[in-house]
Amino acid sequence: MLSKTMQDALNRQVAMEAASSQAYLAMASWAEIQPGLDGVTNFFYQQSDEERVHMLKLIRYINERGGFAIVPTLEQPNITFQSLQRVFEEFLKHEIAVSESINELVGLALQERDFSTHNFLQWYVTEQLEEEALARTLNDKLELVGDDKGGIYLFDKDILLFRSAISKDNNAAG
Ligand code: FEO
Repeated sequence: MLSKTMQDALNRQVAMEAASSQAYLAMASWAEIQPGLDGVTNFFYQQSDEERVHMLKLIRYINERGGFAIVPTLEQPNITFQSLQRVFEEFLKHEIAVSESINELVGLALQERDFSTHNFLQWYVTEQLEEEALARTLNDKLELVGDDKGGIYLFDKDILLFRSAISKDNNAAG
């Protein structure tokens, strides 16, 4: 059985994953109406789906452990962006905040001697490592590209390949 403290903290994480899913959905929608950003559009639609999966995993876990998972109210995220660079800066900022939140949860699970939750959260620790690495790589690449249209064309073309390359590296390292 989850403690009330652990349950409340996990429910806050549910809300954070839902907010991430919304934020990335808004980025996908913005990218979709810009000319030539098909790769970025697909990337953020996929990213939004992934965040929903992260949320669902938490919901199922809370309920399985005898708690009650709260489906959160959603706030409207940022829906417009000054540039592609801003989108990816926001993506990285968001992922860093999620990693910090997961770390807090892991700390709380240990403090509460809730080893099942501690074990459950390891999946999120690994996932965040991957997501942050991806966000940093994409920001670095965009910085190199600057305003060069040819560079942005290639970035958009290869963005889904960057994701699978980073997943593969982490799986190999793990
Ligand atoms: Fe589920 Fe990207 O944090």
